[in-house]
Amino acid sequence: MAEKERLIIFDTTLRDGEQSPGASMTRDEKLRIARALERMRVDVIEAGFPIASPGDFEAVQAVARAVKDSVVCGLARALDKDIDRAAEALREARAFRIHTFIATSPIHMERKLRMSPDEVLAQAVRAVRRARQHTDDVEFSPEDAGRSEIDFLCRVIEAVIEAGARTVNIPDTVGYNLPHQFGELIRTLIERVPNSDKAVFSVHCHNDLGLAVANSLSAVLAGARQVECTVNGLGERAGNAALEEIVMAVRTRQDVFPCDTGLDTTQIVPTSRLVSGITGFPVQPNKAIVGANAFAHESGIHQDGVLKSRETYEIMRAEDVGWTANRIVLGKHSGRNAFRTRLRELGIELESEEALNEAFARFKELADKKHEIYDEDLQALVTEASLEAGNERVRLVALRVCSETGETPHAVVTLAVDGAERRGEADGSGPVDASFKAIESVVESGTELLLYSVSNITTGTDAQGEVTVRLEKGGRIVNGQGADTDIVIASAKAYVNALNKILRAPRRAHPQLGDV
Ligand code: KIV
Ligand code: ZN
Repeated sequence: MAEKERLIIFDTTLRDGEQSPGASMTRDEKLRIARALERMRVDVIEAGFPIASPGDFEAVQAVARAVKDSVVCGLARALDKDIDRAAEALREARAFRIHTFIATSPIHMERKLRMSPDEVLAQAVRAVRRARQHTDDVEFSPEDAGRSEIDFLCRVIEAVIEAGARTVNIPDTVGYNLPHQFGELIRTLIERVPNSDKAVFSVHCHNDLGLAVANSLSAVLAGARQVECTVNGLGERAGNAALEEIVMAVRTRQDVFPCDTGLDTTQIVPTSRLVSGITGFPVQPNKAIVGANAFAHESGIHQDGVLKSRETYEIMRAEDVGWTANRIVLGKHSGRNAFRTRLRELGIELESEEALNEAFARFKELADKKHEIYDEDLQALVTEASLEAGNERVRLVALRVCSETGETPHAVVTLAVDGAERRGEADGSGPVDASFKAIESVVESGTELLLYSVSNITTGTDAQGEVTVRLEKGGRIVNGQGADTDIVIASAKAYVNALNKILRAPRRAHPQLGDV
């Protein structure tokens, strides 16, 4: 049998994924996700857009220092200052890539860039040459390629390959293409660009019509050998192509694909959970591969079939993508060593002894309330500890809520605001509403609540509830998370977490809006 070619997996959860409203991550959160991606053996990790803000620069730098087995990539517009800043952030990586881009569609060139096609072409070439001064590993993207004119696209691609781009990434920036069309586009580019054999063709599809994965797979069949994707399909608007779906489609249908990825697929579910926990974007239950129901069989006929022979209704094995039966891993009497060992097994490395002690104290508190502690509880506990890692301006000290049949719920809250304790109280239509109003009576944040959602981390009535709260102020959107066996307290924690993000979030530039 002929040896399979490699399909390169380029993960952009930390860059394009982070561009979805409310998904912004701190440096430490990015580091945790980057380590999980490395464990999953992702080939390239796009860690961010370094010129966006000092915080983005530091996050990319931290990922570059920490990751050893994957290539670390930084995004840069086709501008010297962006490219040099990206190179500076990436310098200490074992292997790094600079990804530079400029739009090539008529609508973007005319209305956004206000540049002629010849000017765009010249700038693209200059940018690739500049990036090549820092590294041999340069990727170029003609933004909105999916709506660009084919002749111009061919000219730009030939010129950037000539200038030294090793990877040419074709983005369907607005998710406009259909699978047969997008595959045809890739086939045409590979055939028509004279030096196409000198570069890897990559694709980057958005999901506005729900076709990001289908378009990416069609492109792979047409010759693309890198796919850009995100965990859980996180990303701007309707998101990017979902990593787990791309990887498992290619792995499951090896009869069709001439290539395969090098991923450790058993890391898919733990990484999905980590990303969902950190960003506060829940995974829908019927989501392919990583949704809670993806391998659940409800109807009697299906169950009977699966029990007789699993292949009757299952095309993949749950354990191959990292689903393990909920395991009671620790309990009230587990010691610090058992706790540390299990965290290590889950790939969680706490930064210091102090962080371990803090997490262990939280674990003991939880174990007092909930006797059986599962892996999912540990993940939530560490996520919560990192969310509160010292730099919060508002801290929940205490909450008392009265809720009784026929009575108006009433909440009394004590918060530490910039170190000083303050008390507030309020009535509400329910205990959660009363708690949020009590918090607002102290903080007066002027934010608007856009979303409130609760899910259970494990099963059973003693499970922890995980709450996501999305707040908006002056166009900035943040997500807050909180977990607790008491969902009213989990809600208050999530609200306070979101407030802290609003209070500390600095302004950052968006790479595709040109507002640096
Ligand atoms: O969607 C897009 O076009 C992008 C580019 C920066 C590659 O994210
Ligand atoms: Zn994108």
